[in-house]
Amino acid sequence: MLSQLIDISYLVAVVLFVLGIKYMGHPDSARKGNLMAAGGMALAVLATFFTPGLNNIGLSIAGIAIGSVVGWLMSNRIKMTDMPQMVSFFNGMGGAAAALIAIAEVYGIYHGSDIGMATLMLNPNSTFYFYFAALLVSLVVGGVSFTGSIIAMGKLQGFVSGKSVRWPMQKLTNNGLLVVIAALSVLFFFLGEGNEMVIYIILALSLLFGVLFVMPIGGADMPVVISLLNSFTGLTAATTGLLFDNKVMLMGGVLVGSAGFLLTVLMCKAMNRSLTAVLLGAFNSGTGAASDREIDTTYREINLSDASILLAYARKVVIIPGYGLAVAQAQHVVHELEKLLEAKGVEVKYGIHPVAGRMPGHMNVLLAESDVSYDKLIEMEKINDEFPQTDVVVVIGANDVVNPAAELDPASPIYGMPILQADRAQNIIVIKRSMSAGYAGIENELFYNPKTRMLFGDAKSALSSLVEAVKAL
Ligand code: TAP
Repeated sequence: MLSQLIDISYLVAVVLFVLGIKYMGHPDSARKGNLMAAGGMALAVLATFFTPGLNNIGLSIAGIAIGSVVGWLMSNRIKMTDMPQMVSFFNGMGGAAAALIAIAEVYGIYHGSDIGMATLMLNPNSTFYFYFAALLVSLVVGGVSFTGSIIAMGKLQGFVSGKSVRWPMQKLTNNGLLVVIAALSVLFFFLGEGNEMVIYIILALSLLFGVLFVMPIGGADMPVVISLLNSFTGLTAATTGLLFDNKVMLMGGVLVGSAGFLLTVLMCKAMNRSLTAVLLGAFNSGTGAASDREIDTTYREINLSDASILLAYARKVVIIPGYGLAVAQAQHVVHELEKLLEAKGVEVKYGIHPVAGRMPGHMNVLLAESDVSYDKLIEMEKINDEFPQTDVVVVIGANDVVNPAAELDPASPIYGMPILQADRAQNIIVIKRSMSAGYAGIENELFYNPKTRMLFGDAKSALSSLVEAVKAL
């Protein structure tokens, strides 16, 4: 009866996880989704405490209490822009937990507490091989995920070089290390009792591989890597679930693993990068052909007064936020501009590119912070059809996501990346500090379009001045 109740709780928890992920798909319901998934996790943990024969209950409660306090403090103190680092840190902890569990299992086998498995080692059968395959995946992938995530966090936080760090024969070293880890794992299967040391060598090499795997990747590619490492941790949670014969851990791991992998693929697609290019630390080099497009690099500026008049007398304005808006923390002042223009009868929307900024959903999160209504955030595919009827597009700290080269120049590194087609609007105002390139490091011909006028300055101060100018009209 008790075990049935536990199973039912696990089933409810898994349903809550799935619903949680579904609700997190839209900014409107994301909070509810998050609470549902957290509720599922609480239920799963609670039900596990009723498992017959459970030991170390006091230690487990102490661990949960410490983790909860640390998590609560971190979530309260973390700045929105530092969120990817925190996700990476938590992910690393998940990987470390999986690797530690694997080590504890190995210790149990060799030092007596798991007598059943120790006996099986002397006379292995299919159960033994299955168990050991799961144990090795937890150990290796958990180890890689732990050090890889910590290096990724360091790159974003700045205590590890954010540049792509390479060394001679880097690919050979990394691939060689993987082959050694795989060979030792296979060897371990057949060495049998008395070779506990091999496991610790495998763990050490996996930890080293995590570092060497992430070091060559440039800091700005970290969100993709973090998402991939997240799917690795999901995989280890699933294999650890197999080790413990715990269904909810298995299902939760499968969900995290597949969601992380899908997010990785979607991010790569939205950036028009292959996962291999991200992992090799190289920006897609286009067709490799030299670009034969000639751009007239004459740009036009606009002053605050003209910009405010253009905006205040428009019928429809679309704001395109990008990385620079996040850096400048200009989300509140952009909302103020939106409200001012609406009070003057202007229809205002935001065009959201899936990889604008530096993390998935960056612009949604940022604008939600300043209470911009969700129904004003229009996805790229939808807003692109509206640009021809838009009087003014205001590009704020965005660059690559509005670069027409993605559609026009086969030699461009971003060729094929879907973009917000700002150039189809009647007028374009670009707010940024200079003519510098964005993340892809390339020229943007939108800035030289005869319909475009540049308003130079930090996004927050330029927008504050614009707000004052509109108020003064
Ligand atoms: P970017 O192409 O990176 O351009 C940002 C622009 O903001 C820069 O050209 C910069 O020009 C300007 N800027 C910086 N600080 C500013 C400030 N304080 N005030 C005003 N402007 C400022 O940004 P984007 O258009 O959002 O594109 C995102 C890029 O990141 C894409 O290439 C995407 O593939 C990549 N990426 C995205 C993700 C995710 S998941 N979102 C992950 C990794 C990489 P100035 O220096 O002249 O001001």
